[in-house]
Amino acid sequence: MQIFTKNTQVIDLVETNYHLLPVLNRFGISLGNREMPLGEICASIHVDIHFLLAIINTYHNEDYFPEKELQAFSPTLILDYLQKTHVYYLEYVLPKIEQLLDLLMKSDTSGKHQLELIEKFYLQYKKELLQHIREEEEVVFPYISSLLQEGSGNATYTIHTFEKEHSNIDIKLHDLKNMVIKYIEPVYDNNICNEFLITLLRFERDLVDHARIEDKILIPQVLQLEREIHG
Ligand SMILES: [Fe+2]
Ligand SMILES: [Fe+2]
Repeated sequence: MQIFTKNTQVIDLVETNYHLLPVLNRFGISLGNREMPLGEICASIHVDIHFLLAIINTYHNEDYFPEKELQAFSPTLILDYLQKTHVYYLEYVLPKIEQLLDLLMKSDTSGKHQLELIEKFYLQYKKELLQHIREEEEVVFPYISSLLQEGSGNATYTIHTFEKEHSNIDIKLHDLKNMVIKYIEPVYDNNICNEFLITLLRFERDLVDHARIEDKILIPQVLQLEREIHG
């Protein structure tokens, strides 16, 4: 298992796992400073290097999850990271999936429109995902911010209300990916089809990581805060 440290250079990180680039972007780091160690970059842009390392190592190694270490970071840092991830999904990943699906449908040489079922399934999935993100952005995260700032939140709301939601969204994306793998016929452009599938696979991986941070880090932190405030 490779663990990145403050001495790792951006170039090594990207060569090892280029999927980490969008994760770095969420911290305001892009390809510019290739040979600078992560520690120096973080110091120059006032990013907590320990938090960044915990996030990228968690993302890179599926089995690496320093739960206690992550829970020790401020929930504000975690909220900020999660919100940037939402923006990445909404502004980049979903439009990309739609663009590829559209191109794929247009490449159909059979005239049978077999992808309509997949499109329908995707649109239903997207609706549920957007609803979920909206709830986090409009209800859950503001509730956590008010707990942090004022030491009190909406008295009628507790984080328990929100807890059980992620599995549904993960399963639906998993099903969508499986539909593409199992049922798509060779009447579409192979390259577009592969790219569509790869985009879904990467999104699935990113989303599982995202939900894991919400479920295993953020929610326990909020439960602890609620216990401290309400006794
Ligand atoms: Fe989220
Ligand atoms: Fe979530």
